Amino acid sequence: MFKSSVFTLLIYFTVSILALKNVEGSRPVLEKTVEALFADRSEVIHPATCKVFTSSTRQSKMCKREPGLPNILVKAKQQAIKACEETFQYDRWNCSLVFNKKPKRSIFKKIYRETAFIHSLVAASITHAVAKGCASGELSRCSCIGSFRNASNVQMRGGCGDDFKFGKRFAKNFLEWKTAGNDQIADALKQDVNIGIDSIGEQLKEVCKCHGFSGSCTTKTCWKRLGPFNSAMGLLKKHYHHAVKKKLVNFTSKRAVTVKVKRKLKMDLKNLVYFQKTPNLCVSTKGRVCKDKHNCATLCCGRGFVVTQKTVASRCRCKMVNCCVVKCDTCVEEVDVYTCK
Ligand SMILES: *[C@@H]1O[C@H](CO)[C@@H](O)[C@H](O)[C@H]1NC(C)=O
Ligand SMILES: *[C@@H]1O[C@H](CO)[C@@H](O)[C@H](O)[C@H]1NC(C)=O
Ligand SMILES: *[C@@H]1O[C@H](CO)[C@@H](O)[C@H](O)[C@H]1NC(C)=O
Repeated sequence: MFKSSVFTLLIYFTVSILALKNVEGSRPVLEKTVEALFADRSEVIHPATCKVFTSSTRQSKMCKREPGLPNILVKAKQQAIKACEETFQYDRWNCSLVFNKKPKRSIFKKIYRETAFIHSLVAASITHAVAKGCASGELSRCSCIGSFRNASNVQMRGGCGDDFKFGKRFAKNFLEWKTAGNDQIADALKQDVNIGIDSIGEQLKEVCKCHGFSGSCTTKTCWKRLGPFNSAMGLLKKHYHHAVKKKLVNFTSKRAVTVKVKRKLKMDLKNLVYFQKTPNLCVSTKGRVCKDKHNCATLCCGRGFVVTQKTVASRCRCKMVNCCVVKCDTCVEEVDVYTCK
C-alpha cells in the first residue's frame, strides 16, 4: 500500500515535470509553422512530403492524407515572401528576418508589429493557396462548391468556386489554431491569424457564366472567385500600419488584475495586435534604393541620397504583325536611381 502510493507520487512528479518542460520548451505549432514558412527563403521544393519544415504529428497526418498538400504549402510560402518583398520594397522594414542585420535581433524573438503582420500574411497565404488548390483540383479532399456540368454532363473544373471556406478551415487546422494557447501572446497571434484569413475572404468576387443558345443566358452558373494573392496585399499592409500595441501583463504577479487593466486587455477585434516596439531601423537603410525623392525622405531617415543613372532596356512600339504576332522594338532609356546615403 505504502509502496504503491510512493510509486504513484513518483509518477505524478515525473509527469508534471515533463509537462512543465513541454510547456516551457516548446512554442505552439502556430508560431513555429509561421516562422518556419516565412524564414525558409530557399527555393527548394520537397516533393510528396510535408517537410517544408519539421512538422507536428497532426501536420504530417494531414500531408499523408492529402498528397497535393506539400506543393500547396510551398506555393503558400513563396507567394507570401514574394508579395511581402514587393509590397515593402521601399519601406524601412523590407521583410528581412532580422532587424538591422543583427542575427540576434530576430523578428520572431518577440511579438513586434512585423511579427504580427507575418502571422496574418502567412495565414492569408495558406488560405489562398488551399482555396486555389481546391478549385484547380490539385487538392482532392475539398468539395467543389459551384461546380457545374455542361451539356454532355461532364463536370467542369473551370466553374469550380475557389473554396475559401475550406481554405479558412484548413489553414486554422493546419496552424493548430485551437490549441495555440490562451495566454495573452497566444490570443494576440490567434487574432492576427484571423485577420489575415479574413482579408482573403474580402477578396471574393462573384462571377457568372451563361449557358443556353448563343450565350442567351437562359441558365446561369455563378460562383465565388478569388483574385490573385497580391490583391489582398493592400488590405494586409493597411492592417500592418493600423496594428495596435498592447501591454503584456504579468498575471503571476500578486497584483490583482483591475477592471481598468482588464478593459485595456480586451482585444479590439479589427486590428493586428503586437507587444514590442520595433527598434529604430535607420542604421540599416544605407545603400537602399528609394522609389522617388519623396520616398527617400523617409527611407533614408534624413541622411540624404545619391542619384545615379542606369540604362534600362524595355519593349516598346509594339505592333501586331500578320494578324497574330506581336513585334516590339527594344528601347533604351536612362533612368535616375536614388540610393540612401
Ligand atoms: C463538355 O466538356 C467536355 C470536357 O471539357 C467536352 O469534351 C465536351 O465536348 C463538352 N460538351 C459540350 C456539349 O460542350
Ligand atoms: C512575473 O511576476 C513574478 C512575481 O512578481 C516574477 O517572479 C516574474 O519574474 C514575472 N515574470 C515576468 C515575465 O516579468
Ligand atoms: C532589405 O534591406 C537590407 C538592408 O537593410 C538589405 O541587405 C537586403 O538585401 C534587403 N532585402 C531585400 C529583399 O531587398
